[in-house]
Formats: sequence, structure tokens, C-alpha cells
Amino acid sequence: MKRIPHIIAPSILSADFGNLNSTIDLINASEADWFHVDVMDGMFVPNISFGFPVMEALQRRATKPLDVHLMIESPERYIERFRALGAHVITVHLEACKHLHRVIHQIKETGALAGVAINPHTSVTQLADVLGDLDLVLVMSVNPGFGGQKFIYQSIPKVAQLRQMATERNLFPYIEVDGGIGPHNAERVLQAGANALVAGNAVLGAEDPNAVIRNLKAIGQEGFKSIPA
Ligand code: DX5
Ligand code: ZN
Repeated sequence: MKRIPHIIAPSILSADFGNLNSTIDLINASEADWFHVDVMDGMFVPNISFGFPVMEALQRRATKPLDVHLMIESPERYIERFRALGAHVITVHLEACKHLHRVIHQIKETGALAGVAINPHTSVTQLADVLGDLDLVLVMSVNPGFGGQKFIYQSIPKVAQLRQMATERNLFPYIEVDGGIGPHNAERVLQAGANALVAGNAVLGAEDPNAVIRNLKAIGQEGFKSIPA
């Protein structure tokens, strides 16, 4: 039986921003599914990445859905603005919202898919009361703020626990994993129950980004040969 293909979402955080159009074109022409867009405010995370001007550039040129990961405090201030700039998925951090349930419904009202991200220190059990409202859960497998960090292996049982929690309740959210993902660990993450993978450095830092995307996309499909972890 063929497995339903998972989503591959290259993170443009690892792009050369002096030449953003070439990264956008590369992802457009590749087998990737979504653009992962990491917005950081220097408050929720110790780094500042980019904001609306980069979203505008993406909206103009990207031909695939924009998966917007807001690493910002009180993200309810900007939901409508990101949606107007073409966000298809809007993900906020559980740790950054005082009224998470309200923010989730604010996202849904814009027509975007609603996602909640949890940091490595946050238990998946904290999602129990909102899981039924979510289109996507993002399990952070590094502490958010920077690309190119080492994968935290404790994220794998979290993914499995979350998939079980969802399945038991007949829910089928995207489970996306973000941080330190590459061909060396992606198979284990998918086997645990994830169905969306973010990859920054492993894709855009590679000599042949297309080949890495193709490899990540092929995991679990017929003829795929795994790379030992
Ligand atoms: C980290 C970001 C990630 C990051 C992933 O805070 O949320 O999306 O860009 O980059 P890699 O794959 O290089 O860890
Ligand atoms: Zn991200």
C-alpha cells in the first residue's frame, strides 16, 4: 500500500536574502509542497528575521502555499495582515498567546488553516483542549530562533504521543516538525506520525537543494532507500 505523501516545506530563513527570487523560483520548480516562512520578533525568540516586505515578495512570486510560522509575542495583533499577504497556514506559538483558543478562531475566521506550535519544553498534553480546533500542530524539534541547529530527539516520542491523542479522537491534523530535519532523521519523524516536514539548512545549504527535496519527498514511497540515522 502506498502511503499518502507527506508535505515538504523548505524554510526560506536559510535563503540568501540578496537573491530571494532565485530561492523562490527554486522552490516553485521543485517537488516541495509549501514555503515555510519564519517570522521572528526579537522578543518571543532572541532573533529578528523578517516581516511584511518579505511576505509581499513571496506573495508576488511564490506559486505554492505560504506556511507562516509566527515566532512573535501576542500574534493576534497581526493575523489579518499576514492573511491579506497570502498566508495559507498561520501558526502561532502556544507559549506566546494568553488566549490561545481565541487566537485559533481568529485565524480560522480569516480562512487560513490554523496551526499551533509548541516549544521543546511544552508537553503535547497542553494541546488537549484545543486539538479539535486545529488544522496543524507544529512540534518544534529545536528551540526556535535560528536555522541550522541540532535536532532534539526527544521530539520523536512527542510526535507519536500527539498522533495517538489525535487518532483516538478521530482527528487528523497535520503534524509538522520543524528544526534540524534532514535526510538523516526524516524517516523516523514520519514514522512517529508526522506528515509535514520543515527543512531549512538541509535543503538550502545543500549543493543540490532539489535532490534533497526529492529525497525527503520520496521517504516511505516505493523504491526509497533510507539513509542510516
Ligand atoms: C527555527 C525555525 C525553523 C528553521 C529550520 O526557529 O522555526 O523553521 O528555519 O531550519 P533548520 O532546518 O535549518 O533547522
Ligand atoms: Zn519554522
